Amino acid sequence: MKQEINKIEETITGLSPENALAILAKEFSGKVVFSTSLGYEDQVITHFIFSNNLPIEIFTLDTGRLFSETYSVFESTLQRYKKSIKTYYPQTEQIEKLVSQKGPNSFYESLENRKECCYIRKVEPLKRALKGNKIWITGIRAEQSGNRKDMPALEWDEGNQIIKFHPIINWTLEDVKNYIANHNIPYNSLHDKGFVSIGCAPCTRAIKEGEDFRAGRWWWEQNDKKECGLHSMK
Ligand code: ADX
Ligand code: SF4
Repeated sequence: MKQEINKIEETITGLSPENALAILAKEFSGKVVFSTSLGYEDQVITHFIFSNNLPIEIFTLDTGRLFSETYSVFESTLQRYKKSIKTYYPQTEQIEKLVSQKGPNSFYESLENRKECCYIRKVEPLKRALKGNKIWITGIRAEQSGNRKDMPALEWDEGNQIIKFHPIINWTLEDVKNYIANHNIPYNSLHDKGFVSIGCAPCTRAIKEGEDFRAGRWWWEQNDKKECGLHSMK
């Protein structure tokens, strides 16, 4: 696998993110997918894909607990590009069982409960979305957290058996904001209210100046590796 990743790396080195995506879409035809949370970074990549008509499927994981602002930008993105975004939901039986047994907000009670909720609402649907594909594109940036600062642009995801590509890994938040403004790309209005990394409504809050970009996610937890399991940590 290392060899295959090196080969891809050689092919796309020095290319703009848009050109790199175009090459990958051609090389791995029908097997390249992009996951969008509809946050800032993902809107940039959605713009790359939709405005260049790249044959890359865009999907989102609707946990059922997203902010209404997230649904608004989802809708305005569909209107803007006149394209579709494949949407995955948690398995009905699993989510019915969870909420019936533990109530709607069990994630505040323990790390175990929080991970259980993230697994049912995000990780399991993600596995279905990635199945049978070769390349998974994400909007991860190195600057987002200590955990992500050394992530390479291309990596092998053992758990999901797929190659991950983060086309804007080295962009700063400023780069992202400028790109959005210059191309008049729809974005989540919560970004104007101090929200940087946006996930589910009950588990995301705005951050204060100087705080880590991901400090607003699962803010009540003390652990320093705050991930939901979409992106497993080494
Ligand atoms: S998370 O692991 O904490 O939830 P984060 O919000 O930083 O992830 O987003 C990193 C990348 O994960 C996004 O750029 C996107 O590719 C993917 N992602 C996160 N949440 C979702 C979602 N609900 N649906 C689809 N992709 C998502
Ligand atoms: Fe559940 Fe919160 Fe995880 Fe969303 S972020 S899936 S509501 S625990």
